[in-house]
Amino acid sequence: MSAQALQGKHIVVGVCGGIAAYKTATLVRLLIKAGAEVQVIMTPAAREFITPLTLSTLSGNPVITEFFTANTGEWHSHVQLGLWADAMVIAPATASTIAKMATGVADNMLVTSYLSCRAQVFVAPAMDLDMMAHPTTARNLNTLRSDGCIIIEPAAGELASHLVGRGRMEEPERIFERLAQYFAGSSSLAGKHLLITAGPTYERIDPVRFIGNFSTGKMGYAIANEAARRGARVTLVSGPVGELSTVDDVTVVPVESAEQMLAAAEKAFATADVTVLAAAVADYRPARQFDRKIKREHDGIEQIELVKNPDIAATLGAQKADNQRLVGFALETDHPMEHAAEKLARKHLDMIVLNSLSDPGAGFGFDTNKVTLIFADGRQPASFPLKTKAEVAADILNNIESLIELPQ
Ligand code: C5P
Repeated sequence: MSAQALQGKHIVVGVCGGIAAYKTATLVRLLIKAGAEVQVIMTPAAREFITPLTLSTLSGNPVITEFFTANTGEWHSHVQLGLWADAMVIAPATASTIAKMATGVADNMLVTSYLSCRAQVFVAPAMDLDMMAHPTTARNLNTLRSDGCIIIEPAAGELASHLVGRGRMEEPERIFERLAQYFAGSSSLAGKHLLITAGPTYERIDPVRFIGNFSTGKMGYAIANEAARRGARVTLVSGPVGELSTVDDVTVVPVESAEQMLAAAEKAFATADVTVLAAAVADYRPARQFDRKIKREHDGIEQIELVKNPDIAATLGAQKADNQRLVGFALETDHPMEHAAEKLARKHLDMIVLNSLSDPGAGFGFDTNKVTLIFADGRQPASFPLKTKAEVAADILNNIESLIELPQ
């Protein structure tokens, strides 16, 4: 259905020198069949892997590699292609081209066109598992992400080297689908049921006092609203947050304590495709709740005995079916990456959102946040700069979309 949205669209397909370049022929064919106009740019190394003749025949346009045609001296303006494009997709994107894009090394037509492209750029990396896992590649991909590129994550499987791991370019059919969805404005979250927890929990001591925390719920509400905008049906189990607004497709289930939050979440979880646990749940509650106000003069209470609250994330993680995705949050002061990764594994999460505590403007109460996303499927963590919580919600949901789209 969404393929119709590609009709008449100008797509620049950038091809780098990797074995996966043969799959790009299929991508070009799919784009042409969907009515797009395609202009292929190859890096010099790409010509060793697939012939320009194949791609020019399939695209119906001469393939560009050099800044000018040797025998005629005809100049190929990179600016022109960058402006012509409604979208640019680089598939396969090698470690070297990703590095050049991240640092602006414009020594070929592909990178110059990228730098002058005002349209959305999609990057489908393909490389050997160790190159993919190298911190340099992770750093460069994070730079491209912060510069606005959409990274189409490589899948895990057997690689050209016969090693098995993450680095295989996503299948051309799926890259095509991502482009089609982009132009159709449709999301893989459309029609899905999302369960989101947000805000603090209040654990009553007596009718007027509680143990709580400074969570405002802003991050969870931003995710709920953005998910609803993408067509999801959203159940938002919310602790006490005061005045925060939600859009129409969000059903708010107000709760107060961790036990109430668990009960409400378990109920919705049965039909949830994706669950995002953004609530700051109190780890402990008073062992005893007084049903009348504790009086200093009479009761003389000096200590409150605490008991552990249920861990909602771990409880749902233990019940999770193969087709369900579970996302948690982490707020860590020391060794943040290690602790977040440990939580990801222990609670059976698919992704964890690590909030920064050290950056000004990030965390509780602010309208901005700075996050790193850590994944269970072995892909590299993705770091984002300080952004508004609405923008962070979009980044989180873009990555949740890629979790839904990837076969498990
Ligand atoms: O263990 P920690 O509280 O740091 O874990 C944070 C993640 O676990 C968050 O996603 C939070 O919503 C979730 N959590 C939970 N129930 C608890 C404690 C945390 O769902 N009792």
